Amino acid sequence: MLQAKLEALRDEAKLKLAAINDLKAVNALRVEMLGKKGPITEVLKGMRDLSNEERPKVGAFANVIRDEITELIEMRKEALERAAIQAQLVSEEIDVTLPGRTPKRGTRHILTQISEEIEDIFLGMGYQVVEGYEVESDEYNFERMNLPKDHPARDMQDTFYITDEILLRTHTSPVQARTMEQHDFSKGPLRMISPGRVYRRDTDDATHSHQFHQIEGLVVDKNISMSDLKGTLALLIQKMFGAERKIRLRPSYFPFTEPSVEVDVSCFKCGGKGCNVCKWTGWIEILGAGMVHPRVLEMSGIDATQYSGFAFGIGQERIAMLRYGINDIRGFYLNDLRFLAQFK
Ligand code: PHE
Repeated sequence: MLQAKLEALRDEAKLKLAAINDLKAVNALRVEMLGKKGPITEVLKGMRDLSNEERPKVGAFANVIRDEITELIEMRKEALERAAIQAQLVSEEIDVTLPGRTPKRGTRHILTQISEEIEDIFLGMGYQVVEGYEVESDEYNFERMNLPKDHPARDMQDTFYITDEILLRTHTSPVQARTMEQHDFSKGPLRMISPGRVYRRDTDDATHSHQFHQIEGLVVDKNISMSDLKGTLALLIQKMFGAERKIRLRPSYFPFTEPSVEVDVSCFKCGGKGCNVCKWTGWIEILGAGMVHPRVLEMSGIDATQYSGFAFGIGQERIAMLRYGINDIRGFYLNDLRFLAQFK
């Protein structure tokens, strides 16, 4: 009688457990079935009415049933715990077999590429690369370049003044004076290039920018002549625009060089026949240059009767525009990836 009741309780526990899906409910069932007020305890209380002979048998059986129910509960609990861990693992799964995302690589700015290319060419010829100041004094930007206060050539290089004496440099030429006055000629000739930003009070349009880039070049030694200048520039231009290129020098004027020249390269598009790039002349103006003016040497403490030199100034934007057929200078400064990514 009691045995049947106990067995029924075990079966009931089995059925209920099968329907339970969370740990809380399992614990609640344990309390319900095995607790002090539960049915097992109830059954055990009923043993009072049994004979001495039957009591231990039923007692032993009750223990077996209780152990079985305990076991069932434990098993269900473990199963639920395992399922929970499994679910967590599935939810946190990372597919390590996915190929990685390729990071987007930037490119060096085209103007940086141009100046590094030119630096390489000149480093190979024993030049040093010098950095100048973008914020310069009137003294170095103009006076020491033989452009006194009332010089008409100052008009072409109007700029942004910070005070009457301090300004944003209009060209990289002041670096000439700064390196010449520092140079120790007992250690060898002075050969330098200096790339950097320059400023002019220009209204921005397709061909003008109030801020652009130049590379200055300067060589000072004994017996430096115009042919050194011409040979150096021919080499530069052939490396930049192709070995077939020719250069030509036209007389020009800069206050800090004498004589001064404008340097043209034979058109790399048409080879000299005439086209839209060279404006049907066969030649493209590429840079300004000349022999360093004796007064400029003297102002930097160099004896112009002993030493001579040549200097040149290249516009980086101009080189890039010619080489890549860029027709609007503003493209360099807009940080538009569609423009910049073309120059890898
Ligand atoms: N500084 C001149 C310019 O900006 C270029 C130049 C440099 C000319 C050196 C001759 C020698 O126009």
